[in-house]
Amino acid sequence: MDTLIIEGGRPLRGTVTISGAKNAALPILMASILLDEPVIYTNVPDLRDIHTTLRLLDILGCPAQFRAGRVRVEPGALRTEAPYDLVKTMRASVLCLGPLLARMGEARVSMPGGCAIGARPVDLHLSALERMGAVFNLDEGYIHGRCARLKGARIQFDFPTVGGTENLLMAASLAEGDTVLENAAREPEVVDLANFLIRCGARIEGHGSSEIRIHGVPGLHGCEYAIMPDRIEAGTFLAAAGITDGELTLVNCPGSDMEAVLDKLKAAGLSIAPTADGRGLTARRAAGGLRGVDVSTRPHPGFPTDMQAQIMALLCVAQGSGIVEENIFENRFMHVQELVRMGADIRLSGSTAVVRGVPGLTGAPVMASDLRASASLVLAGLAARGVTTVQRIYHLDRGYEHMEVKLRAVGAAIRRAAARD
Ligand code: UD1
Repeated sequence: MDTLIIEGGRPLRGTVTISGAKNAALPILMASILLDEPVIYTNVPDLRDIHTTLRLLDILGCPAQFRAGRVRVEPGALRTEAPYDLVKTMRASVLCLGPLLARMGEARVSMPGGCAIGARPVDLHLSALERMGAVFNLDEGYIHGRCARLKGARIQFDFPTVGGTENLLMAASLAEGDTVLENAAREPEVVDLANFLIRCGARIEGHGSSEIRIHGVPGLHGCEYAIMPDRIEAGTFLAAAGITDGELTLVNCPGSDMEAVLDKLKAAGLSIAPTADGRGLTARRAAGGLRGVDVSTRPHPGFPTDMQAQIMALLCVAQGSGIVEENIFENRFMHVQELVRMGADIRLSGSTAVVRGVPGLTGAPVMASDLRASASLVLAGLAARGVTTVQRIYHLDRGYEHMEVKLRAVGAAIRRAAARD
């Protein structure tokens, strides 16, 4: 297992190109199952989760080729089983459920287990698909779904689940009649999926609002589609500029989907401005330095849970305190104990963390527990005095494209090493 070794204390300066969004690419790649024709995707990030998705597509009968951010998927004779070996490494595999039911009338998908950040059930996906006529059994650890042609329905989600909304958008696109999704997720990645489906001939309205209307069509064609930029990667690099007291320009990063993150980073003492061409952002620490702010994670357009760990790293070295409340996942504070090992002052009580800023962090060996927790440890390591070794960075490789290469190019002393354990 690889580790990252970081010598902290160097301000980062330069330009970083933001990659395509992992969380948009995963459902959009999975939507290939719905198509009658080949499809080409561009701006696809080179990540472990993307390669897992391409392996799954291959197993399901849609062979895919990845070359330098460009993916071609060729729909073939579909198979309906998503095996445990793949699903256990990536929960988002469950996104094949809606497309398989819509296209094949059957899907056998290994039940995703719990994961480091919580139980993460898929009950909302299943009950919504049941409203469209699917019937599910749990069979030897597999969710086995069957249906005749799915029928449009009015579906109200108890919670605006991102994956559930995506599964239903895909299923309803090929269903018979109209589907209305109420209390749907409004995340930009859901909007990117809807835009992709529309490019393939789907009839969808209201994406980006909490009520989405889908008029089912008999078939979908291929197209060429560029995946949106990754707003979480962008937010992480903005935080890196602030925590190292450097200045970074991010390109391929529109910023329009990032208001909640930009507002909080500015309140925490960053100066952030759009670049002259409007397609990027420049960030540095403002004159007053970093300040404590309160952060509460919410579904979009609120502050994203996927940026909670990174902003917490920033608050660790800010003046004053900040309260961080996690409302989306029940167990997403595993970075806290590791940050404390680096000298942070954080008190945890249930879903709330009180972060009191300290003058500086010190390097230490730390362990990554999930994707965004890993990013927060890297940020802390970049700011800390001395050497930080981040272990188990395979989590980071699931979601950040060549992170240490990008950081090195803007002045970080960071290298990857094969772990001794
Ligand atoms: C997606 C993102 C993830 C992000 C999350 C919230 C992808 C691949 N992953 O995850 O990075 O952190 O949105 O923005 O896009 N829930 C249920 N039952 C369900 C579905 C969800 O109880 O059927 C709960 C989950 O356990 C969790 C909460 O709802 O506590 C949010 O989950 P959801 O919005 O579905 O997130 P994901 O799609 O899994």
